[in-house]
Amino acid sequence: MNASAGAYAELQARLKVTPATWLITGVAGFIGSNLLETLLKLDQKVVGLDNFSTGFQHNLDEVQSLVTPDQWGNFTFIQGDIRHPEDCAKACSGVDYVLHEAALGSVPRSVEDPALTNENNITGFLNMLIAARDAGVKRFVYAASSSTYGDHPGLPKVEDRIGNPLSPYAVTKLVNELYAQVFARTYEFKTIGLRYFNIFGRRQDPDGAYAAVIPKWFAALIKGETLYINGDGSTSRDFCYIDNCVQANLLAATTDDEAALDQVYNVAYGERTSLNELFGLIRDRVSPAYPAAAEVEPVYRDFRVGDVLHSLADIGKARELLGYAPGYSITRGLDEAAGWYLEHLAG
Ligand SMILES: NC(=O)c1ccc[n+]([C@@H]2O[C@H](COP(=O)([O-])OP(=O)(O)OC[C@H]3O[C@@H](n4cnc5c(N)ncnc54)[C@H](O)[C@@H]3O)[C@@H](O)[C@H]2O)c1
Repeated sequence: MNASAGAYAELQARLKVTPATWLITGVAGFIGSNLLETLLKLDQKVVGLDNFSTGFQHNLDEVQSLVTPDQWGNFTFIQGDIRHPEDCAKACSGVDYVLHEAALGSVPRSVEDPALTNENNITGFLNMLIAARDAGVKRFVYAASSSTYGDHPGLPKVEDRIGNPLSPYAVTKLVNELYAQVFARTYEFKTIGLRYFNIFGRRQDPDGAYAAVIPKWFAALIKGETLYINGDGSTSRDFCYIDNCVQANLLAATTDDEAALDQVYNVAYGERTSLNELFGLIRDRVSPAYPAAAEVEPVYRDFRVGDVLHSLADIGKARELLGYAPGYSITRGLDEAAGWYLEHLAG
């Protein structure tokens, strides 16, 4: 068991003196580029794979501006696609730890085009599992999802109690977990899945039809655009700041506790915020710089197909087995995110 509050601080100190080689798939995306930033700042060697389908060169450029030239020199980028087994094999070669983030996110996107989501999130995932197994990597950590809880009514969500999936996206994330379990049973290739709950923070894309709610609302308030709430605003989520998510990934990749392997973990903060409350929190942070935002009221419209009504995680398992200790509450995380969106979306 590894429940000390300082497990992450200890790990960071250890990594600094004994660098490893990491592969981040989806490195040009929101979560991937944040993993990259942290690992390069810890003087790790990093290989990144991305096909730029929803990620951006400007995310990589921003990370470059935040690290030293020597740290940037530790990064190798491969433009490639997890749907191509040869790209996966190339990316996994010589790697210690894989952080697999590449996938097509968004429930509505998967409702629009289930086949495309399936190709990226299931075929691509399987390609990566095979490549990582064949390369003999030490650990494969992958982005699972809170959508796997589906229609299970229980709150808070506990890892071993799931319902039926409510969207094609949720099916893909559940299938990832099933493949991971079968790889442990069949090939003794043990992985760790992290069920992310609404991660937010710097570099999360505010644009496009499939943008997540927090970046979308920052952008709407800053630009004076109409802001929509799907449903009556009572829908609630366990919003989790990106630095908590990065911590969970690094702890999962490096744990040497056998009991922690071949498991999935909730990655969240462990508190629930309604969309109406979230709107107030974001408006409070935008209004000082954009006084017109203080007068904005949201426009309510229909609930979205495939969305669950309430979501809240029990994070006890990650605390106990990984030493996960999230330091960012939603308000602290929104303070950080506001700084980034106000700087990047200004003008
Ligand atoms: N952000 C969240 O709240 C959240 C919640 C649950 C799960 N997740 C999962 O976390 C992971 C990362 O999400 P994100 O929010 O950073 O999304 P993102 O869209 O910003 O990042 C995904 C990255 O993967 C890349 N990618 C997609 N398909 C690819 C392919 N076939 N080959 C190579 N690269 C490909 C994209 O170009 C992008 O850079 C995804 O697996 C997502 O399903 C995210």
